[in-house]
Amino acid sequence: MYKQDIYEIRSNEPLTASVFRMVLAGDTQWIAAPGQFVNVALAGRYLRRPISVCDWDGRTLTLIYKVVGDGTEQMSRMRPGERLDLLTGLGNGFRTDVPAERPLLVGGGVGVPPLYNLAKRLIAAGRPTTVVLGFNTAAEVFYAEEFRALGAGVFVATADGTMGTVGFVTAAIEANDLRCDYFYACGPLPMLRALCDAVAADGQLSFEERMGCGFGGCMGCTCKTKYGNKRICKEGPVLTKEEIVW
Ligand SMILES: Cc1cc2nc3c(=O)[nH]c(=O)nc-3n(C[C@H](O)[C@H](O)[C@H](O)COP(=O)(O)OP(=O)(O)OC[C@H]3O[C@@H](n4cnc5c(N)ncnc54)[C@H](O)[C@@H]3O)c2cc1C
Ligand code: FES
Repeated sequence: MYKQDIYEIRSNEPLTASVFRMVLAGDTQWIAAPGQFVNVALAGRYLRRPISVCDWDGRTLTLIYKVVGDGTEQMSRMRPGERLDLLTGLGNGFRTDVPAERPLLVGGGVGVPPLYNLAKRLIAAGRPTTVVLGFNTAAEVFYAEEFRALGAGVFVATADGTMGTVGFVTAAIEANDLRCDYFYACGPLPMLRALCDAVAADGQLSFEERMGCGFGGCMGCTCKTKYGNKRICKEGPVLTKEEIVW
């Protein structure tokens, strides 16, 4: 179930040179699970921009986005008090009703935001949660402290070794001998694939495919799974490790 509505920007601040956190006020009742996303309409642009919900409560939602092109650059210039048209409640999100006593959450770059509310829920449910965050370099790292403040064990990997383990998230998992009985991940495709090879446990992976409509109407995001074709925007963005056809 998704809904179109107007939201007011409360804050829009840089976390790093190119990553921004935007807090919006409005109706959040359609957001049902961590890992769902919103689709942002921007003046003068035909296609909406899909952005994961990082966190939400009864009146506000938080988005974290990286400026990569014209649309996100336009978002970065918006000021508190301005309004945005969003489709909310999109996608399936992560399932937490799985047998995961010691979950491992793995995020790469802008794949990190949807793991935040997930970690909050898992920790609130009493599950000791470990988070591995992967970035290119120390200057790009964000939200490590926020995950620690939730009570998660946090490990950082940077490709150039300027913070945490040198290399990719899989290097941090190996170097710190991180064990889990279930994992959740979001990040670039090569990271998701390497993770599935490196971690024996079952898990759920969120895919940030290019999208058209974002709500299941155009078939532009269809991918093949063991159980037939699925639309990443509707039956995803979260797929189980077991169903993925690489
Ligand atoms: C389910 C989902 C969740 C996402 N969550 C986040 C998030 O939390 N934070 C974040 O920074 N980014 C996220 N992305 C990626 C984000 O949608 C793109 O970076 C953004 O749309 C780029 O827009 P642009 O106009 O700046 O770039 P441009 O390259 O100018 O965009 C041109 C077109 O391509 C599409 N596009 C470009 N890159 C992507 C991409 N990687 N994925 C999907 N569509 C793309 C745009 O929507 C637009 O229609 C997510 C993508 C998906 C599919
Ligand atoms: S983007 Fe249109 S069906 Fe998924």
